[in-house]
Amino acid sequence: MKAKLNVHKTEFNVHKAKLNVHKTELDLYRYAFIDEGNCSPQDLDDIVEIEKDSFSSPWSRALFSAELKNPISRILVMKTLHQDRETIAGYAVYWLVADELHLQKIAVRREMRNRGLAAAILREAFAVSSSQNIMKATLEVRASNLPAYHLYRKFDFSVKGKRLRYYDDTGEDALIMWRDL
Ligand SMILES: CC(C)(COP(=O)(O)OP(=O)(O)OC[C@H]1O[C@@H](n2cnc3c(N)ncnc32)[C@H](O)[C@@H]1OP(=O)(O)O)[C@@H](O)C(=O)NCCC(=O)NCCS
Repeated sequence: MKAKLNVHKTEFNVHKAKLNVHKTELDLYRYAFIDEGNCSPQDLDDIVEIEKDSFSSPWSRALFSAELKNPISRILVMKTLHQDRETIAGYAVYWLVADELHLQKIAVRREMRNRGLAAAILREAFAVSSSQNIMKATLEVRASNLPAYHLYRKFDFSVKGKRLRYYDDTGEDALIMWRDL
């Protein structure tokens, strides 16, 4: 199902001064939507590895496997060559509900952060979704997660409400953010 996969190649115009890695590592990134039909065991290993390193309450492998089958869910990954193999650099999971995009999560491999990859993944997710008549995007974020909060503000999300004591592990509130696509 080529239309659904929407795989294409993109070169990023990342500001060189920000990069602290060998240039060849950054030459080529590729986006892919993965689902149960095209997700390899290695893809799942990569995602689970990034997930565990990124979240205090990470989704399990079983939960990601279920998500791959969820018809409203989209898992957008960014792949790159890393240590001689194609690996996932980051991913976003979002749900399409009516004309809304609900961002469930976004994460970037720790050693690849701060070079514009999360911004690129979000940009791609929003471009694909708005071409499919999705009009608005929403998400929840921990008030203490400043990198994520700043990322969302950079994309013109604004805080429209709060869910009190939303996060079980810390009892922290969630900020509810929205933007038009
Ligand atoms: C949040 C996260 C996805 C950002 O990924 P990233 O690839 O490093 O982000 P980018 O390099 O694309 O940065 C884009 C913008 O995000 C914001 N940002 C990213 N890291 C930041 C940091 N450490 N402090 C403050 N702002 C930050 C900035 O606004 C930045 O724009 P700028 O470079 O013009 O200042 C990454 O830190 C991560 O995976 N965190 C763990 C998982 C998580 O918390 N996910 C979000 C909740 S689901």
